[in-house]
Amino acid sequence: MFREDASLFCLLGFLPFLSTVLAYENLALNKPAWQQFPYPGRPWGADKAVDGLKSDLDAYGGQTSNLAWDEDNGQAGRFLGYSVYVSNSTNREDGVLCFKDTNYTRATIPNPTNITCVTHGRYVIYTNNRTHPPYPAGYSQYAFNDICELEVYGCPTPGYYGEDCSLPCPQNCQEGRCNIVDGTCLGCIPGYTGTACDKECADNRFGFECNSTCGKCLNGEQCNHVNGSCPNGCDEGVFGDKCDKECPVGLFGYNCRENCSMNCGVPGKCDRVTGECSGGCQPGWRDLQCKISKVFFCSDLRICA
Ligand SMILES: *[C@@H]1O[C@H](CO)[C@@H](O)[C@H](O)[C@H]1NC(C)=O
Ligand SMILES: *[C@@H]1O[C@H](CO)[C@@H](O)[C@H](O)[C@H]1NC(C)=O
Ligand SMILES: *[C@@H]1O[C@H](CO)[C@@H](O)[C@H](O)[C@H]1NC(C)=O
Ligand SMILES: *[C@@H]1O[C@H](CO)[C@@H](O)[C@H](O)[C@H]1NC(C)=O
Ligand SMILES: *[C@@H]1O[C@H](CO)[C@@H](O)[C@H](O)[C@H]1NC(C)=O
Ligand SMILES: *[C@@H]1O[C@H](CO)[C@@H](O)[C@H](O)[C@H]1NC(C)=O
Ligand SMILES: *[C@@H]1O[C@H](CO)[C@@H](O)[C@H](O)[C@H]1NC(C)=O
Repeated sequence: MFREDASLFCLLGFLPFLSTVLAYENLALNKPAWQQFPYPGRPWGADKAVDGLKSDLDAYGGQTSNLAWDEDNGQAGRFLGYSVYVSNSTNREDGVLCFKDTNYTRATIPNPTNITCVTHGRYVIYTNNRTHPPYPAGYSQYAFNDICELEVYGCPTPGYYGEDCSLPCPQNCQEGRCNIVDGTCLGCIPGYTGTACDKECADNRFGFECNSTCGKCLNGEQCNHVNGSCPNGCDEGVFGDKCDKECPVGLFGYNCRENCSMNCGVPGKCDRVTGECSGGCQPGWRDLQCKISKVFFCSDLRICA
């Protein structure tokens, strides 16, 4: 089942009809359809597969070749091995594979058949090929498109689900879309997760699919679940909205707001987190940050070292 508009697009190959009997709307009905290799000289265009007519399975009309669907039906062997894709382009490789037959035989291939594929896309692509002989038992050597009708059931308006397409999708679904049967989101907007996208990203994650890791927020706080910014500034050694940038040389501490001491062994160079001078202190200075003068007044008012 698919949401929104869907154009039928057939490549090589085909089933008399793929159908679903639901209260959803047949989105493929009378939509543009295209066949990669039309049968030459015959009025069997892809438009016939979306014309809504399916009671007469004879190619010319007139019920003359409506044969029983069993293993003696020559057409059954042409469908074996078929695939159905949903894609946003006419290239099936860009889309998702909804179904591939690897197991049917002329006796077991169903007609009509239902394929459930809850996704969103623009094109439904049926394809089959006979390019790599030898073929499995029962396979026709031809991949003719013998599809009578291809129906695509879904909701015509994006953002709704349920059999009569009247229930609004959860508000944080990506692009407002959800599974038209159960209303679960097909993806979430940034900052949210869960089948209904109602949970904010946690555990120091944020953004699309909660796939980004927070920077070093003050006291290890969770960053904003959507944009990753730190609510109360940064921990030591980092700066920026997301506290993901290391202090430039010469600065240290919370939000990189402090200057390294000019009394450091290398003046103005220190550890970006602690402010500890690299390479000791200049003569006359001490402490890790070299901020305390070694010179101080002794109790008897002489200057001592
Ligand atoms: C297709 O699915 C619908 C809904 O589940 C069901 O009513 C119908 O019988 C199915 N048709 C076939 C041929 O399996
Ligand atoms: C088609 O594109 C939409 C985004 O516009 C995306 O949500 C969807 O998954 C795509 N469908 C396929 C089958 O790639
Ligand atoms: C293959 O087809 C047989 C007979 O129709 C069926 O019993 C079996 O479950 C199928 N296997 C797979 C993997 O679909
Ligand atoms: C269809 O083509 C694929 C390669 O694209 C090949 O692996 C497969 O065997 C072909 N099937 C038949 C029945 O020729
Ligand atoms: C999310 O992370 C996973 C695992 O690291 C990765 O496979 C996936 O592509 C990422 N998704 C996005 C949208 O970045
Ligand atoms: C991130 O979102 C918060 C909350 O909406 C907002 O206050 C903040 O300005 C945003 N930060 C950026 C960098 O957009
Ligand atoms: C750091 O140094 C700059 C200029 O060198 C000065 O403007 C600023 O006030 C100093 N910051 C602190 C916290 O001392």
